[in-house]
Amino acid sequence: MSILEVKTLSMHFGGLAALSNLNLTIQEGEIRGIIGPNGAGKTTLFNVISGVYRPTSGHILYMAGKRIDGLSSSKIAKMGIVRTFQRTALYHDFTVLKNVTVARHLQTKENIFGVLAGTFKKMEKEYVKKALEIIEFIGLGHLKNELAADLPHGHQRALGVAIAIACKPKVLLLDEPLTGMTPTEKAQMIGLIRKVHQQGITILMVEHDMRSVMELCDYISVLDFGTLLVEGTPDEIQNDENVINAYLGTEDLVTVCTSS
Ligand SMILES: Nc1ncnc2c1ncn2[C@@H]1O[C@H](COP(=O)(O)OP(=O)(O)OP(=O)(O)O)[C@@H](O)[C@H]1O
Ligand SMILES: [Mg+2]
Repeated sequence: MSILEVKTLSMHFGGLAALSNLNLTIQEGEIRGIIGPNGAGKTTLFNVISGVYRPTSGHILYMAGKRIDGLSSSKIAKMGIVRTFQRTALYHDFTVLKNVTVARHLQTKENIFGVLAGTFKKMEKEYVKKALEIIEFIGLGHLKNELAADLPHGHQRALGVAIAIACKPKVLLLDEPLTGMTPTEKAQMIGLIRKVHQQGITILMVEHDMRSVMELCDYISVLDFGTLLVEGTPDEIQNDENVINAYLGTEDLVTVCTSS
């Protein structure tokens, strides 16, 4: 059953077509890789799906055909489509626990100012309890009282995932979750993505690390210049001449070729 459908979607910035007549169907429960060279439109796709931008034209259908294009990002998040960012978005001077608790709170209460103005100890116990469960699940339990700013990069990214989980996603959009990570951090994040997926969450992942994309994803959509170049299983994509050509001259090509 499809959970998300993108239909003839276009997003123009002035004269630039960042997305052009794009069609995608995501099945419930899959891990879908979205790849493509720099500037292909991957982040723009996430921005449009998550309501940051209203598309220039086209539709986005979610769960049994409900149209979500044009809805606000908070409404879309409440419906269960939650994203992480290419650069981590955290409250750096909050602890790990407070970051996740606030995210949980915001999911159910509209007003960010009320949450931020209120003292932490006034927050309902249940939010803290649930946040602690999520932090344990993500593997950051031992760091719950650390300031987000003091965490190493890999743990900050994991905290970004914890914050997203706190928003109760049905579909999780991960924008370059492995970027800038050491091999150990990458392995931990891949394990974490698998664990999140096992909870029944559908995952869309934009990522340049081809080896990890091939390892994790059930199916891959390749974007190039805002259009869909090709779709297929990891095996099909690695051996597709159009994909290799699209990556010509980029470092990613080396990984594409050596991982096959
Ligand atoms: N808000 C914006 N205003 C104007 N142009 C934009 C905007 N956002 C994206 N673009 C342009 O749209 C195109 C697609 O950008 P996008 O960030 O979606 O690419 P990407 O595939 O995520 O690239 P990368 O792999 O480098 O992250 C680029 O040419 C970019 O400069
Ligand atoms: Mg991007």
